[in-house]
Amino acid sequence: MKGALCYFSGTGNTKWVADRFKENFAFYNVNIDLVNIQFLEVSKLKRYDFLIIGSPVYAKFPPKIVNDFLNRLDDLNKETKIIVYSTQAASLSSAPYFMAKCLKKKGYIPLMQISIRMPNNFYFIKGKKPDRDLIEELLLKANEKVKNVVENFIKGEPIIESVSFIRFEFNKAIYITFKNKIPKLSKNISSTRECGKCGLCLRNCPQGNITFERGHAIFHSKCILCLRCIYICPINAVRYKGKKIDQTQRDIIKTLDLNR
Ligand SMILES: Cc1cc2nc3c(=O)[nH]c(=O)nc-3n(C[C@H](O)[C@H](O)[C@H](O)COP(=O)(O)O)c2cc1C
Repeated sequence: MKGALCYFSGTGNTKWVADRFKENFAFYNVNIDLVNIQFLEVSKLKRYDFLIIGSPVYAKFPPKIVNDFLNRLDDLNKETKIIVYSTQAASLSSAPYFMAKCLKKKGYIPLMQISIRMPNNFYFIKGKKPDRDLIEELLLKANEKVKNVVENFIKGEPIIESVSFIRFEFNKAIYITFKNKIPKLSKNISSTRECGKCGLCLRNCPQGNITFERGHAIFHSKCILCLRCIYICPINAVRYKGKKIDQTQRDIIKTLDLNR
């Protein structure tokens, strides 16, 4: 049995969980290939027996980059076993339900729908800043959850975490509002004069949205607000509303395969 785990991860949380899936499946001698959906040719997924799809949550739902990927998943065997998972700051999310809904429309029947609580990378807008102890605790719990999911998958026992219809519809409205606000919100990202022009943000922006002009990083209009540039900057020179952000994702972001 061979699986592919297709993910998008802005600041490392979803990739960190992907790595745990790989480890836990390896315990059962099952190999998983981890693939970033940005660089994925969907037809290459045909050779896998099962799929895992991982996404962060942006305003209750998966970001557009993940939704576009789900819409491209056309020609696979409809019997393919699929696990969908989200990572988010809250304990539960509507995102896996939404992802499963997209897949069901295409004729697939996802076996597992899981949301995994991870450190909040958006704490400076909403919620509480995750401190070291909380991050450690969340990572331990996330690993336990993945272990349990893998164990159940191997036994063929589904896990479906659902949300009520009312909550789902309410969250959909929040997402639509957020989506329309992204261009405005992304204007809050800027770099300071201290920017060393190392190019790390430019090389790793999933949208290719950053260039260097007039001596420092310029952020254009394709931003999806993944926040990678804020957490990746080695000198913490990328600001939100001019404020310095404590890089709480500093360690976790290293799990991404970055262009150094
Ligand atoms: C733009 C944006 C919106 C977010 N909205 C939510 C949300 O609605 N609910 C939630 O629980 N977490 C939310 N978060 C937190 C992230 O979902 C969470 O930290 C996630 O694990 C990040 O994954 P990544 O590191 O793989 O990008 C949001 C983060 C960002 C950047």
